[in-house]
Amino acid sequence: MEAMSLVLFGATGDLAKRKIYPALYNLFIDGKLPRSFSVFGLGRRELTDETFRSHVEQSLRAFSRREPQDEAVTQQFLNAFRYNVLHIGRLEDYGKLLSRIERREEALGAAPNRMFYLSVSPEFFEPIAANLMESGLGSAKGWKRLVIEKPFGHDLQSARVLNEKLGKAFAEHEIYRIDHYLGKPMVQRLETLQQSNPVLHALWTNRHIANVQITANETVGVEERAAYYDQAGAVRDMFQNHMLQLLTMLAIHLPSNSSSEEVRLKKKKVMEALVPLQQEDLASLVVRGQYASGEIQGKPVIGYAAEPGIPEGSMNDTFIAAKLQIDDYFWRGVPFYIRTGKRMKEKSTRLVIEFKEPLANQAGHKDERKRPNLLVIEISPNEGITLQLNMKDTGRTGELQPIRIDFHANQQDVPEAYENLIRDAMLGDPTFFAHWDEVELAWKWTQPILDAFQANQVPLHAYEAGSYGPAASDELLAKDGFRWHFDT
Ligand code: BG6
Repeated sequence: MEAMSLVLFGATGDLAKRKIYPALYNLFIDGKLPRSFSVFGLGRRELTDETFRSHVEQSLRAFSRREPQDEAVTQQFLNAFRYNVLHIGRLEDYGKLLSRIERREEALGAAPNRMFYLSVSPEFFEPIAANLMESGLGSAKGWKRLVIEKPFGHDLQSARVLNEKLGKAFAEHEIYRIDHYLGKPMVQRLETLQQSNPVLHALWTNRHIANVQITANETVGVEERAAYYDQAGAVRDMFQNHMLQLLTMLAIHLPSNSSSEEVRLKKKKVMEALVPLQQEDLASLVVRGQYASGEIQGKPVIGYAAEPGIPEGSMNDTFIAAKLQIDDYFWRGVPFYIRTGKRMKEKSTRLVIEFKEPLANQAGHKDERKRPNLLVIEISPNEGITLQLNMKDTGRTGELQPIRIDFHANQQDVPEAYENLIRDAMLGDPTFFAHWDEVELAWKWTQPILDAFQANQVPLHAYEAGSYGPAASDELLAKDGFRWHFDT
């Protein structure tokens, strides 16, 4: 891999500590970092390189999936790290940084390839991008890349404004927009699962699939993020990005070995084929919820309204469920049900594909005991695939019972989303990053929901913490004769 410098804004922040340093460390252990590699951590605090390195080391001990064992190896990893004080609005700080980076590049005889990772609040994206260009940091002879993470705007309009501003400093092919759900290993393997298994490939259409259910449930509540979350809600925090990305990744049909352009083009086509929501249908196709007090794994928890920092009378959504339709050759007529919520019964992100029962209505084939065939793809916290079939029981009663064919990965061996994504960005592979076209289309599709929530045109249902969300979410499927699977 080419030599490069990683320039990290927000180096003392939470994301860096929990995700970025552990990911870099695991890549290092696996020999997946360039041989000539430097990290320039940036922040407002005055830190020496040594203090910064020990801060990085602590984060590995606390958050890495593999604990540092060998002292010499850990030191070798930490030697790549340097710290610079930088005030985002102060152009001269960028100048100083540039001299330091150039000195290091020279000492290593390394090409001036630079990856700028903005692990900071989005209001800083634009001033940083402008100062990178102004200072000359972003005009190296090598390549330059910008890595940013959601939220990309607050709605369609603000997302467009942000994109236009970033576009003044970085070309689209230089921008790597992280949606960490696209980094989850099982999501990255969805295509292979479908392509390399003719039995699944043949069934991946509306001829055989009755409905698709996409769930991302969390047990955590709003945590310490009231100021952000109360403005965002589940619709902006999870639905507009992670959930729609899961939908497109599941719905695309690709020939094997497709290029990143093909993958992104197919995803864009799926997004374009999403049937737009009409104002008059919104209340029947979208369910909005907010958690009330309850119990999570035996422990009592308070409701959203009582959480510190939540304004009185907040109508914010901590749960959203919706029915979507893709109007294309493969999926016309198949409902896609999506739901995501905080303070749910369990932490689970999964896709459930329910197959049709084509003989159900023919004489002699009706059998009330039959359960639908299901393919369940578990994305996190555990990775797995389960196929549910019907079999006669092992005794002689002749009873039908569902059997499950199961695969579950050894979680220790599963890389974290950030490992996959950081490596891909280093390699210049944009396949699993959100292209602006997708982000814009996702905002466009979601905008009527944002407007309807804002205008209070969709009822806000309270649901008990530790449940599977409001009853209205069950009714959303029941109206079509379905139910959420694997809620127990
Ligand atoms: C983040 C959201 O993007 O995803 C959080 O901002 C949420 O609110 C998190 O908790 C969920 O990610 P994961 O990987 O734990 O499912």
